[in-house]
Amino acid sequence: MGEFTVVSFFTGMFWAMVYWVVAIFQFFVPPPRKDVSGKIVLITGAGSGIGQKLSIEFAKLGCSVVGWDISTDGLSKTGSLMSDERMTSQWHPYKCDITDRHRVYEVAEKVQEDVGCVDILINNAGIVTGKKFLDCRDEMIIKTMEVNTIAHFWTLKAFLPGMIDRDSGHVVTVASGAGLFGMPGQCDYAASKFAAVGLTEALYCELEYSKSTGVKTTVVCPYYIDTGMFKGVETPLLPMIKSDDAVNQIVDAVLRNKTMLLMPRIVYFLYYLKGLMPAKTAFLTGNASGTMASMDTFRGRVD
Ligand SMILES: NC(=O)c1ccc[n+]([C@@H]2O[C@H](COP(=O)([O-])OP(=O)(O)OC[C@H]3O[C@@H](n4cnc5c(N)ncnc54)[C@H](O)[C@@H]3O)[C@@H](O)[C@H]2O)c1
Repeated sequence: MGEFTVVSFFTGMFWAMVYWVVAIFQFFVPPPRKDVSGKIVLITGAGSGIGQKLSIEFAKLGCSVVGWDISTDGLSKTGSLMSDERMTSQWHPYKCDITDRHRVYEVAEKVQEDVGCVDILINNAGIVTGKKFLDCRDEMIIKTMEVNTIAHFWTLKAFLPGMIDRDSGHVVTVASGAGLFGMPGQCDYAASKFAAVGLTEALYCELEYSKSTGVKTTVVCPYYIDTGMFKGVETPLLPMIKSDDAVNQIVDAVLRNKTMLLMPRIVYFLYYLKGLMPAKTAFLTGNASGTMASMDTFRGRVD
């Protein structure tokens, strides 16, 4: 990039302020949705929950949807939920354990041959241990980091070069509110989600810095969603988000090229507040609201 000068500093700061004002305006008046019909969308964890519903929604929008999952039953279920022939013909399921990088690269090549270049990559697959730090088995800690974070590196290595060459594409990271706030019972999960948020933020900066601005990024940080992943958790003040609502908001954020989506909206306020509060005040606020105890009743997926 160019040399640092006083003029370049003030020019940069001027545009930074302009984009800030635009962002505040767009918070209230969102920009128009982009047309994604005919695009190829790859979704990991497409056999259940959010990934399943995202697959159906993107197929409705006229996209070819490539679904990856470790569960073939899950992928078949997603296919069976596609309501008409047009949608089914756009559905391309592949069994892929995303923690196996050789398999990721192999299946990515197959997708390229069978379906074409991926335009939108949605790193959505995720797992949770749901235990206090000292009760987490080593294997589960490793697996959580592998599925929730490290696998993103492999899918990005497979699909990002094509997007950069075409200066067009979109990388979506389904992270979590646990990627912004820590709480008891989520040490490994929060570590993996903070890392996923960090990866996406750094990648965004790299793309901007290298002027690959045609490739967009969106990081999604939801509170608990009623998919069953966090079955048993008790949420006294903020109710669980309905999965249909979460999926509609994620699709909308992608279509409007939103860089960050926090759900529900109050989380934007809490996130800024966290930066201003001492750690003890932040903890006591979370504790008074019952959030710190929410994982005490966690059962998770028992199926
Ligand atoms: N449900 C929530 O409350 C919640 C809240 C915030 C963020 N999230 C995040 O949203 C994403 C989706 O969550 P969900 O609730 O739909 O979960 P889910 O359990 O319903 O679906 C996760 C999918 O990922 C697949 N998967 C797991 N390991 C895999 C692997 N190694 N390779 C390929 N696929 C694998 C599973 O088979 C499953 O189909 C996750 O990243 C999760 O962390 C969920």
